Amino acid sequence: MKKMISDRVAETKPSITLAITAKAKEMVKSGEDVVGFGAGEPDFDTPEFIKEGAIQAIKDGHTKYTPATGILELRELICEKLKNDNGLSYTPDQILVNSGAKHSLSTAFQSILNEGDEVLVPVPYWVSYPEIVRIAGGIPVFVETKEEDDFKLTGEAFEKSITDKTKAIYINSPSNPVGAIYSIEELKVIADIAVKHQIYVVSDEIYEKLIYDGDEHVSIASLNEDIKKLTIVVNGMSKSHAMTGWRLGYTAANPEVAKAMGTIQGHAVSHPSSITQYAGIAALKCPECVLDGMLSEYDSRRKYCIERLDEIEELSYIYPKGAFYVFINVSWLFGKKYRGTLIKGSMDFANLILDNEKVALVPGVAFGADKFVRISYATSMEEIGKGIDRIEKFIKEVE
Ligand SMILES: Cc1ncc(COP(=O)(O)O)c(C=O)c1O
Repeated sequence: MKKMISDRVAETKPSITLAITAKAKEMVKSGEDVVGFGAGEPDFDTPEFIKEGAIQAIKDGHTKYTPATGILELRELICEKLKNDNGLSYTPDQILVNSGAKHSLSTAFQSILNEGDEVLVPVPYWVSYPEIVRIAGGIPVFVETKEEDDFKLTGEAFEKSITDKTKAIYINSPSNPVGAIYSIEELKVIADIAVKHQIYVVSDEIYEKLIYDGDEHVSIASLNEDIKKLTIVVNGMSKSHAMTGWRLGYTAANPEVAKAMGTIQGHAVSHPSSITQYAGIAALKCPECVLDGMLSEYDSRRKYCIERLDEIEELSYIYPKGAFYVFINVSWLFGKKYRGTLIKGSMDFANLILDNEKVALVPGVAFGADKFVRISYATSMEEIGKGIDRIEKFIKEVE
């Protein structure tokens, strides 16, 4: 019989993060007091001057098609940003503006993968990474990392996973869900292996600006010309500029890959919304206008979160150095019961705590790490306090 839906979709899982968030939103709608630790989204509003940029664009009639790769002025500003922040030299024809970083990733993989090519995905991974590869016809190959390495990929694990079909590897620093940051030395090891085997590095740098404790972000592409040629730098405005809904991401790549990506984008969506691109121009014209207030607030929340979690006996977590998540190990509760219900894994934990204590968090199984759950501290201090009180109460009832 003729298959009416593609095999690729059949193999693709819907996002667990979005499912939990939707369930929590439904509960809020029906009047329940849910603490939202689920969403990977800044709770700040988009800064006013960025909104003004978009409003002005509408008034000025910038409401028509733009070049498929994005408005030249925006691509020039992205080049300037990459130069100033990351020490990377690109020309505007190497930049592609996309509808969010998720779209950047999918366009990247559609441009480089042939059917059956393998892509290495260090575990834990951001939920969409394997599915984006599958949709593009590739095969995600999971690479185990260790808790004691903050779940960062080592050269040894990388090299062991390479086959003659390996086409690319994901690197995400700062990382979601862990909040880990790769040091320059760690990146050098990965870069050398990628160059030796001619493997693309898809470097997701979306949390670049959310770094604490004086740590610094290094783009793997900045290490040398060889790795730069193989790297597709992915970044965007969602997290750094509190612009999730605007859908603005971008990539920087070698001219051949950039051209291929432009061709795909031209046929898929033409280009991101012109209004959004003008908002991006306003944002990048004033890099110093955005972040400081948000960053110090995230940092205070992070410290408060850690302080409170430290008070809960037996609970351990990966110390978060970047992004806005804490990845908490709850595996010591598995095999025990909460009000008579057995907790078998992170999904049970997440469902039970949402239904009973009204705390929405994401089960680690969504990231390939079932021993953990992820909380997002992109919410108010008051909500963080309330949420951790409830987690503590939940844990006390487990027996
Ligand atoms: C690691 C990572 N990459 C990419 C994205 C996608 O960002 P965007 O909203 O720009 O599509 C997210 C969003 O949660 C993310 O966590």
